Amino acid sequence: MTDQAPPAFTGPKRVLSGVQPTGDLHLGNYLGALVKFARMQHEMETFIFVADLHAITQWQDPKLLKNQVREIAAAYLASGVDPKVATIFPQSAVPEHTELAWVFNCVARLGWLDRMTQFKDKAGKHKERESVGLYTYPVLQAADILVYKATHVPVGDDQRQHLELTRDIAAKFNHDFEVPAFFPLRDAVSEGPGARVMSLRDGSAKMSKSDPSDNSRINLTDDADAIAQKIRKAKTDPEPLPETLDELKARPEAQNLVGIYAALDGRTDQDVLSEFAGQGFGAFKPKLADLAVAKLGPVGGDMRRYLSDPAEIDAILAAGAAHAREVAAPTLAEVKKIVGYWAG
Ligand code: TRP
Repeated sequence: MTDQAPPAFTGPKRVLSGVQPTGDLHLGNYLGALVKFARMQHEMETFIFVADLHAITQWQDPKLLKNQVREIAAAYLASGVDPKVATIFPQSAVPEHTELAWVFNCVARLGWLDRMTQFKDKAGKHKERESVGLYTYPVLQAADILVYKATHVPVGDDQRQHLELTRDIAAKFNHDFEVPAFFPLRDAVSEGPGARVMSLRDGSAKMSKSDPSDNSRINLTDDADAIAQKIRKAKTDPEPLPETLDELKARPEAQNLVGIYAALDGRTDQDVLSEFAGQGFGAFKPKLADLAVAKLGPVGGDMRRYLSDPAEIDAILAAGAAHAREVAAPTLAEVKKIVGYWAG
């Protein structure tokens, strides 16, 4: 072994990301993921999937799962991901993900997975009762990414550790099988933090679909009344908005609402403060509510429209899966040869 850097990967730049079909999407998913997908699809080849394989690492009702997949696909479309530009597909329709995941299960080390904090968070005190799939979840995620040799993976900060694991798996594969530039090695490739949207009830907790309080989040399917009411009820403090970002730091709820306003309006937090400094939340919240209704109302409306005609979504997903397979299959075929499979 030498400590020379391995030769660089020279393939094309590609975006890959996915969302699990396990609950209603909310403003945090919209600003943190969907809007980014819609933007990045114009910058490079883009693959966006619905992670139904990952979903079943925890129990999902088989009668509901297909519709949950359609809902995520509808949210992609309503957020501006264009099936003529990006490839949108269900993960389970591309078996190459699963096949590559098996190889990666044999590359990743137990010690690496033992360090994954998301598993610990999800499993809680009773890890012996969780599925083996939940434990190897990040290995499948690495396969999702590397079967397309993706170089850009827009995800939230909570996925950073999984991206680092992906890099470690790629590096070990390239090294052990002596194919130094086969898989791209990128640093954790999360594309900027994006807007980190916090709970409307607690500025120190992420907005989350698992929060028992529906008032803590704005769902993409909320109607205008629900959006406005949740913003009206959002936790705040009695102080007016300050002039500088520094003064906002110790006020997580205020900071969150300013951040949401800025992200929805495509401006910086400082811009928003400059406009509203000195005003209290009695004045700011109605403006935020109007903006949120104007931006999210059409997204929810579009989602409902797509879902009322599932045949269109299903056709988009089928075409996406066919194209995704065309790209994934050659990678998998090469991997089988490299590993020395009988069927390689
Ligand atoms: N684990 C991701 C999440 O919960 C979803 C996901 C699965 C994913 N595979 C992926 C995201 C591959 C990016 C790339 O958000």
